[in-house]
Amino acid sequence: MAKNGKAIKQIAIYGKGGIGKSTTTSNLSAALADLGYKVMQFGCDPKADSTNTLRDGSYIPTVLELLRDRGSVNAHDAIFVGYNGIYCVEAGGPAPGVGCAGRGIITAVQLLKEQDIFEELDLDYVIYDVLGDVVCGGFAVPIREGIAQHVFTVSSSDFMAIYAANNLFKGIQKYSNSGGALLGGIIANSVSPESNYQRSIIDDFAARTSTQIMQYIPRSVTVTQSELSGKTTIEAAPDSAQAKVYRELARRIDEHVDSKTPTPLEPSQLRDWAAEWSDQILAIETGEVRTEAANI
Ligand SMILES: Nc1ncnc2c1ncn2[C@@H]1O[C@H](COP(=O)(O)OP(=O)(O)OP(=O)(O)O)[C@@H](O)[C@H]1O
Ligand SMILES: [Mg+2]
Repeated sequence: MAKNGKAIKQIAIYGKGGIGKSTTTSNLSAALADLGYKVMQFGCDPKADSTNTLRDGSYIPTVLELLRDRGSVNAHDAIFVGYNGIYCVEAGGPAPGVGCAGRGIITAVQLLKEQDIFEELDLDYVIYDVLGDVVCGGFAVPIREGIAQHVFTVSSSDFMAIYAANNLFKGIQKYSNSGGALLGGIIANSVSPESNYQRSIIDDFAARTSTQIMQYIPRSVTVTQSELSGKTTIEAAPDSAQAKVYRELARRIDEHVDSKTPTPLEPSQLRDWAAEWSDQILAIETGEVRTEAANI
């Protein structure tokens, strides 16, 4: 609860490595800040590169680095102000090769909670940008420990991205009975409006796993240009079509209240689902119809 009694909305963004989590999260934070909300973006990746496009491409010291250097830390020393007043925090990671990065997330969140920072800053949103696939239990921390209420996953229509999303759904389902975060939906990134099948694939996966698509985000050179200038698209190209797409995503997330337990596919179901789509894509692209049975 923030100090005026309003609820703080805490959101975790997950997805396969390199799929566009930090780019999407930073544009989401920027768009929410432009709507007048007080936003904190909390990078939960040892690379500590979540927030740099909110701060002109600069990197900030991480909570774990500060703790290692100083022993104890005033949380304010780990909070840096970025675009339109967004509070930027990077949890950081253990020294390379030792320790658990998931514990780093717990340590960093605990530090801010112990010092009542969320209330003091009167935040409306805390958005956690969490590292890649849920290969390590540590990265389930924002779901498991009740840190976030809503999870969104960034996925393209590529199988490996969908595979990672399905694994995440398994994690959400597992902790859903013990107060874990629930799934808000999929943010479909790099889904081209011109493609005959990308949207259909991701739509079908969402339907099969009982979730929804929050927004379709095309791959855009405006994002590349903005990133090269060290900024989000919202800041660097506010009048662009791409900025409009991110603003629409922010509006939908702002209106979103009702997260749910997803129904992930079992490995054999996922394989069959992928094989069906393999056939359909071939049929769409070439007009040729081929099934697994026909290949035997
Ligand atoms: N819609 C898009 N259009 C163009 N480029 C994009 C888009 N989304 C992401 N990118 C680019 O893809 C690259 C990877 O994006 P990003 O760093 O956001 O991924 P990530 O999921 O956070 O990666 P990691 O798992 O390493 O943290 C970046 O160079 C980014 O600019
Ligand atoms: Mg990232």
